[in-house]
Amino acid sequence: MKIKSAEFIMSNSDVEKCPKSRLPEYAFIGRSNVGKSSLINMLTNRKSLAKTSGRPGKTQLINHFLINKNWHLVDLPGYGYARVSKSSKKTFQKFITQYFNLREQLVTAFVLVDIRHNPQPIDLEFMQWLGEHGIPFSIIFTKADKLKPMAIKKHVNDYQTILLESWEEMPNYFITSSSNGVGQDDVLGYIEELNEN
Ligand code: GTP
Ligand code: MG
Repeated sequence: MKIKSAEFIMSNSDVEKCPKSRLPEYAFIGRSNVGKSSLINMLTNRKSLAKTSGRPGKTQLINHFLINKNWHLVDLPGYGYARVSKSSKKTFQKFITQYFNLREQLVTAFVLVDIRHNPQPIDLEFMQWLGEHGIPFSIIFTKADKLKPMAIKKHVNDYQTILLESWEEMPNYFITSSSNGVGQDDVLGYIEELNEN
């Protein structure tokens, strides 16, 4: 899919106030600092459409971006960031759960995990939660530029082994790098396919 336009629409902490249009929507979720906002920039070929930072906890709201005037990308705050206060963590969790429970336009979620790390309980629990709520998702491995191809293979295999303990099959997954653009065609091609159905 060719990106012809990518515009920021709005930021929100209230799901009820998110865009009312019925355009198909794709949300990026994962631990703080995993690279959600960077991936949105990479996919859309924009340097700073979504705000990124080396410090975790940068994205704090639900951010809607309109792509090619006919679908939405959504940048969400990260989960599992220890330095956020308990009360704001609760607020985040509340609006993230509300987002996933209420947003009927959501076609699929992309759960991002850092390719360098072993499967973390918080990510596995989140995927479990999505499964229990009937929310389709794919996994996006990020920061693939940080590992050699053999190590990537090994990390994906390890991930698969752990996931297959609780899932019947390995969820759909993508290997990406926002630094060198790896995975851009695959993710955009997948979204295009879903948009056509
Ligand atoms: P929060 O909004 O805080 O939840 O973080 P986020 O998941 O949106 O992460 P963000 O895109 O802000 O990136 C976090 C850090 O990781 C930044 O320093 C990015 O430059 C870096 N980063 C993101 N993607 C990649 C990647 O593919 N490769 C490398 N090497 N660094 C990356
Ligand atoms: Mg972010």
